[in-house]
Amino acid sequence: MFASLLLLWLVVFFFVILLKSQRSKNFPPGPTVLPIVGNIFHVSLENPLKDFARLRKNYGDVFSIYLGSRPAIIINGLQTIKEALVNKAVEFAGRPQDLFINDASERSGIILADYGNCWREHRRFALMTLRNFGLGKNSMEERIHGEIQYIVKTLDDSIGKTMSPQLMFHNVASNIICQVLFGTRYEYDDPFIRTFIRCFTENAKLANGPWAMLYDSFPFVRYLPLPFRKVFGNVKTCKKLAKAVFAEHKKTRVPREPRDFVDCYLDELDKRGDDGSSFSEEQLTMYVMDLHFAGTDTTSNTLLTAFLYLTTYPHIQEQCQQEIDTVLEGKSELCFNDRNQMPYMQAVIHEAQRVANTVPLSVFHCTTANTELNGYSIPKGTMIIPNLSSVLNEEKHWKFPHEFNPENFLNEKGEFVKVDAFIPFSAGPRVCPGEGLARMELFLIMVTLLRKFKFSWPEDAGEPDYEPIYGVTLTPKPYRMKVQLRAAA
Ligand code: HEM
Ligand SMILES: *[C@@H]1O[C@H](CO)[C@@H](O)[C@H](O)[C@H]1NC(C)=O
Repeated sequence: MFASLLLLWLVVFFFVILLKSQRSKNFPPGPTVLPIVGNIFHVSLENPLKDFARLRKNYGDVFSIYLGSRPAIIINGLQTIKEALVNKAVEFAGRPQDLFINDASERSGIILADYGNCWREHRRFALMTLRNFGLGKNSMEERIHGEIQYIVKTLDDSIGKTMSPQLMFHNVASNIICQVLFGTRYEYDDPFIRTFIRCFTENAKLANGPWAMLYDSFPFVRYLPLPFRKVFGNVKTCKKLAKAVFAEHKKTRVPREPRDFVDCYLDELDKRGDDGSSFSEEQLTMYVMDLHFAGTDTTSNTLLTAFLYLTTYPHIQEQCQQEIDTVLEGKSELCFNDRNQMPYMQAVIHEAQRVANTVPLSVFHCTTANTELNGYSIPKGTMIIPNLSSVLNEEKHWKFPHEFNPENFLNEKGEFVKVDAFIPFSAGPRVCPGEGLARMELFLIMVTLLRKFKFSWPEDAGEPDYEPIYGVTLTPKPYRMKVQLRAAA
């Protein structure tokens, strides 16, 4: 009796799941959905990129896969991505709200915030505040120059030797954002920043791995003591650290004379009072963690890619140096505006960003209303994955889609040209708000280093491997480069 009831229950359960995971009429096509597991077995977790390329060939620019019983729609190609993120901006500007990462971030911060008032106010605040660090001694540019001194010193200590640039670039990207947020820098062995970074690295790994996929697909496992629980502990640790920093700021700040981002936020809190606005100290915690996270790996992985290509394409490196020498002749200081006289350097930076493909699938979006794309109907609340790599190497937009070649951004006269398909920062209302900062960092760091040093591939390092390591952000495999002083070269 009991056994047959159980059996009946199982059959009903299975049937419900089966119905739930079938594509509705006019939903974007994709591989056949298995009950419960969805298409999990259609993609390898190690590096799903290859499997997806095959799916696009079969199903077109808009296709769907099921992660458990949850559908996700992958959109490819400039035309389709623009149609969604720019032309149907509001419909596609949401973020999924019922994933592992949402629980882990306690539904605050900016990156994962859903389309709405809290996100809008915090985004506006970030853009405004980052822009207002514009001039003077505390300007963004000065903060970046200050941090560059430390990498110059690291490289000075490596002259005549080979060195692995990974830690150095990670450090500089992290410290620039710390200068902006907290007005301080941290030595790499500082316990604050080490714990902060360790927690985030661990969490990013877990959030991107099979345990998180399990969590997202099967709500009933969420309360089990599985490895994903570690993430919640890490978040608590980070919050405690951030709170201590805020307490210190409150003790030393002068209202309306902000030294950094945290001070600006505290001023804003004073101004708004607690009248139901979305600003709060709780928000601030996740907000600064989001900004640090968003600004560190992205920038440092882009720098790593840039220098991997510069060391292995010596003629391109030399051409950059010629331009730098000509434009900066007799000048001791470099400034961001010098970029307007450096078309070749600009082209190299853009090309490095294009091939670096740092955030290949952007950050997942979600539809905020029932909508339509390329003739398919997409219900409200569907996860949308914009495939940025499909645009950054889409054959019809690039002269040399599959190689590292600055000519992609130069015309016959050697002038720098913008290309529509250059969307490493994504597009639409969710476009990366750190774009201005990131561009300034890339330019000032690359030009300063190329002006002073010559970088080469060590003779005993074998063939360079350009195939990146797959993750939320792509990063080159660890490599070493030989450092020489240019004056002597
Ligand atoms: C080369 C460096 C960088 C790249 C390639 C990059 C790329 C991206 C991409 C692709 C997105 C997702 C956009 C979308 O959802 O469609 C994003 C979002 C974001 N980025 Fe960046 N980023 C970089 C640097 C930075 C920096 C330095 C900051 C810090 C100020 C930053 C802050 C953010 C934030 C806060 C978001 C979330 C925006 C939102 O959800 O409204 N990024 N970035
Ligand atoms: C995105 O596009 C690239 C290049 O076209 C492809 O290799 C990759 O598999 C695609 N990824 C997804 C998730 O569709």
